[in-house]
Amino acid sequence: MTDLVVRRLVIDLETPFPGRWNGGDGFRSAFFNALSLSFPAGEQFFIDAVRAGLKALPEEKRASLAAEVQGFIGQEATHRRIHALFNLHLANLGYDNEIERRANHRRKVHEGGDLRNKVAATAATEHFTAIFAEQLLATPQMLSGTEARLQVLWQWHAAEESEHRCIAFDLYRELGGSEAWRRRWMRIVTLVFVTDLLRQTVRNLWHDGALLQWATWRSAAAFLFGEAGLARRTYAPWRAYYRPDFHPLTQGSERGVMWLRDNAAQFEPVVAER
Ligand SMILES: [Fe+2]
Ligand SMILES: [Fe+2]
Repeated sequence: MTDLVVRRLVIDLETPFPGRWNGGDGFRSAFFNALSLSFPAGEQFFIDAVRAGLKALPEEKRASLAAEVQGFIGQEATHRRIHALFNLHLANLGYDNEIERRANHRRKVHEGGDLRNKVAATAATEHFTAIFAEQLLATPQMLSGTEARLQVLWQWHAAEESEHRCIAFDLYRELGGSEAWRRRWMRIVTLVFVTDLLRQTVRNLWHDGALLQWATWRSAAAFLFGEAGLARRTYAPWRAYYRPDFHPLTQGSERGVMWLRDNAAQFEPVVAER
């Protein structure tokens, strides 16, 4: 039913890297570091939500989604492991992971609640990561000047986010989640995720000594609002989530497919789902 493959990266993650690994750019490095710091807790939440969601489906519906859920869990578990290694270098450099503490705290809010809320929050965040992923792959300057192994890490993660962008959404629908709550969760996730990401970015910039530098904010303006800026380019696909006929399949995923095809030497498939 699906092509989701778990891939093991063949890159060196032992050798340390500097805090400003992203082309020496203070803002870009702080922003990507904030993302990485958010991943292990976030991805565990998605894994738990999707696993429980599948379990809650009636037997006859379960079969059609089981393989894709399995592939999703395998991919996200691999991302967690790789980013935990990445984050270890950041911890050694003294970066404080506040975003993870906040995510772990919020997790408690979901405990005991309607499972569909967890799956809806996962689907909304997966939409964020999928549109960010396509933008990253379409805009090499987001990682310009970065050493090759770290470019591969971020591009591989992006390609897989684009690849598995449908499963949480499909699961939410199969669980009978309403459209109103699907959109409501996107509003919540947007507010929480953007706020947390910016807080952690500022925290990283402070630690790095780049917060009060003019070059940092010039880079931030170009990165977010310039010609190929992230906020500019992702606004329309983000908005699309609110349409009644939205489905992640309607979002472009060509860049991810191309990257996986052209970079097969960078990874080894671990488990191929049927
Ligand atoms: Fe991921
Ligand atoms: Fe994902």
